[in-house]
Amino acid sequence: MSGPGATRRDPGLPPRAAEGQPGPGVDWSRVRGDFPLLGREVHGKPLVYFDSANTSQKPAAVIDAVDGFYRRHNANVSRAVHQLGSEATEAYEDARAKLAGFINARPDDLVLTSGTTFAINLVAYSWALPRLGSGDVILLTRMEHHANIVPWQLVAQRTGARIDVVELLPDGSLDLDMLRAKIAGDVKLLAVAHVSNVLGTVNPVADICREARRRGIVTVVDGSQALPHRPVDVAGIGCDFYALTGHKMCGPTGTGALWARRGHLDGMPPFIGGGEMIREVRLDGGTVFNDPPRKFEAGTPNIAGFVGLGAAVDYLSALGMDRVEAREQALLAHLAEEFAKVDGLRVFGTAPGKAAVVSFAIDGVHSHDLATLLDLEGMAVRSGQHCAHPLLEWLGVSATCRASLAFYNTHEEIDAFVAALRKVRRLLA
Ligand SMILES: Cc1ncc(COP(=O)(O)O)c(C=O)c1O
Repeated sequence: MSGPGATRRDPGLPPRAAEGQPGPGVDWSRVRGDFPLLGREVHGKPLVYFDSANTSQKPAAVIDAVDGFYRRHNANVSRAVHQLGSEATEAYEDARAKLAGFINARPDDLVLTSGTTFAINLVAYSWALPRLGSGDVILLTRMEHHANIVPWQLVAQRTGARIDVVELLPDGSLDLDMLRAKIAGDVKLLAVAHVSNVLGTVNPVADICREARRRGIVTVVDGSQALPHRPVDVAGIGCDFYALTGHKMCGPTGTGALWARRGHLDGMPPFIGGGEMIREVRLDGGTVFNDPPRKFEAGTPNIAGFVGLGAAVDYLSALGMDRVEAREQALLAHLAEEFAKVDGLRVFGTAPGKAAVVSFAIDGVHSHDLATLLDLEGMAVRSGQHCAHPLLEWLGVSATCRASLAFYNTHEEIDAFVAALRKVRRLLA
């Protein structure tokens, strides 16, 4: 079939030359040229987009795949017997297979969702709610996004389970001694971010999951901020559930997935009921559900979005996630070096090996004022609490600015950003 995926472009790679070599060999300025939006101006200045942890920009290959789907193949999935219906179904299932391959998983273990939030709620309602009870402990960490806190609080309220929290060390890494001590108790479920969306801390999730598994604890890893930046192998991590979101990894909004260790999905009741997730519906109550993963995909999915996500996976795979990671680490090192020269600038989160997500504050300047004035310079950063109130409370600040980088950013943008920060600081501090 031509169409979605067939519009894939070679993302800035000289053919074959760069295979297997991190960093050198990729023409990063050509890669940047794959992202149409990055060429625009904001307030008359060239855009500097440092908000990729919020949502990433999309390469033309993804935009073209979505456009191509609507122009040539649009139909609903799994329902129609006509040609377009089978093309749409094939494209949707193709995207599932690509995404599964990207994280070293089987397509049948991957439930396609609207994003991480839905994926974690699915585990909370379908796995945890029927299984947890009074006296059980759900262990979280201080650095979780609200999407990996609130669903567990709702489960705790309804089951009588208790929430406990692993705290952080001063550099923003997890206190692993505390984690080890806490999992020796009545913990039934451990929910942990792979990469923090505020601090950039990369948690040793494979080690954590191994120790939890030894004690029979089920693990839920929030991979939202990991997948865009580094190779992810869910089998290697050894977790029970891995949640991910498409729009931070160059895919369209409203796409994501939940990966589950084989066997978990079979034993979970459906979360949302409706069409597509059933085999047979009977009014006497004898409704028969579809097999997983479709049992958890009620209603018409975001078909075009997943076609776009499949194209994003192709795009990132062609770049190579090792090379993406090396590129972002080089950008991060440059940013850290330049930040260190700015008077009164404080960085939150300095754990070794952190990802290119940098929260910071400038003494005497409110982060919203800073972000607003940076916007007037054409620079997009996020300011606020980053859906992580408990973490901000621990940091002792009401808000931070966050510069989050992606492989399509440049050293020159970092220099321009730091010059703009100095200018804003002179105005406000
Ligand atoms: C660590 C983390 N978890 C979960 C989410 C929620 O993702 P989504 O809104 O795509 O469901 C985000 C998004 O910012 C995130 O950074």
